[in-house]
Amino acid sequence: MIKTKLTEMLEIKHPIIQAGMGPYNTTKLSAAVSNAGGLGIISSIGMGVVALGFKPLFGFENLSPREQMLSSIDKVKNLTKDSQGIFGINVPVAVEFQSVAGELINAALEARETDSEIAKRLKVVITSAGNPEPYVESIKESGAFHFHVVPSPYHAQKVEKMGTDIVIASGHEGGGHVAYDPVHTMVLLPAVVRSVKIPVVGAGGFCDGTTLAAALALGAVGIQMGTRFIATQESEFLSSYKNYIRDINDTRDTLVAKGLFGNLRYLKNPAVLKMVELAKSGASEEEQFNFEIQSLEAIEAGDVEKSAMPGGEVAGRIKEIPRVKDLVEGIVKEAEEIIKVKLPKLIV
Ligand SMILES: Cc1cc2nc3c(=O)[nH]c(=O)nc-3n(C[C@H](O)[C@H](O)[C@H](O)COP(=O)(O)O)c2cc1C
Repeated sequence: MIKTKLTEMLEIKHPIIQAGMGPYNTTKLSAAVSNAGGLGIISSIGMGVVALGFKPLFGFENLSPREQMLSSIDKVKNLTKDSQGIFGINVPVAVEFQSVAGELINAALEARETDSEIAKRLKVVITSAGNPEPYVESIKESGAFHFHVVPSPYHAQKVEKMGTDIVIASGHEGGGHVAYDPVHTMVLLPAVVRSVKIPVVGAGGFCDGTTLAAALALGAVGIQMGTRFIATQESEFLSSYKNYIRDINDTRDTLVAKGLFGNLRYLKNPAVLKMVELAKSGASEEEQFNFEIQSLEAIEAGDVEKSAMPGGEVAGRIKEIPRVKDLVEGIVKEAEEIIKVKLPKLIV
């Protein structure tokens, strides 16, 4: 067992967080991670798209963000009843998403208030991609912990002052949204650790025991993994997406493309190369937006050639699609061996 401030704070077994991965549905995945002793996270962007005028994708229903959030929380609560696992939600608070972010966060706080089981086990609200200030007070008042994803020591210090409990330092190798300044985990994580008094979790590039041990050596209290958890048996991502990650053999097979909602790291394929071309050729915002929507629909249909699939550089290190429990326990066991057996032998 590895005990850190993260495992102590949340009373979880392993210092491993499954990343929020909106617009995809991670209800079953978060339950599996929570059952395995990590922190499972319900993703929420997909819950907001209906309110923004789009049809629901990835198993989300035609419900308001509030109803959708309450329904997902209820599902995870039921799927984790036996293990009494701990879970949380991720809500990006970017300007484009602000109209629904408050509704989603309030729904989770409402569920905590009205259901003692949820209050006991939905312990964390992770915000990302914007300024969390309008939400921190209500999250803390409800008794939940607030974590925020940051791309720099500057942002970490800002949210520390707001009362945030933990910052997640997210490096440029990560899948999905990346910051405009391309600072990678090896530099970012220890810099953020040094800049604040609150605990820091590392994100971007983590997938196994070696990288967990490295994160702890860099001063982190745990890791958050996105791409690695996509390629698991229980994740809701289609097998075509999971297999695509498993079959990538080169750590160069991702690229960052500028979409309408900022920079995202994608698995390299013809659809993403076309997306880059569109942006370079000065295509209108409408054209780019339509392309992104078509790509999401292609992901849902399992058409990998037409899908722009977010994924991190670490895809090049992922070779199998394990069960979540085996993955999480394997990572911790490998990290323990490195810390307890391999590294001490280096000291003479
Ligand atoms: C498919 C996908 C969707 C993502 N969506 C979100 C999101 O909705 N909110 C968020 O905070 N981060 C999102 N991210 C970033 C992850 O939370 C996480 O920080 C990142 O995946 C870590 O890097 P890794 O992929 O190397 O593990 C997403 C990542 C992926 C791969």
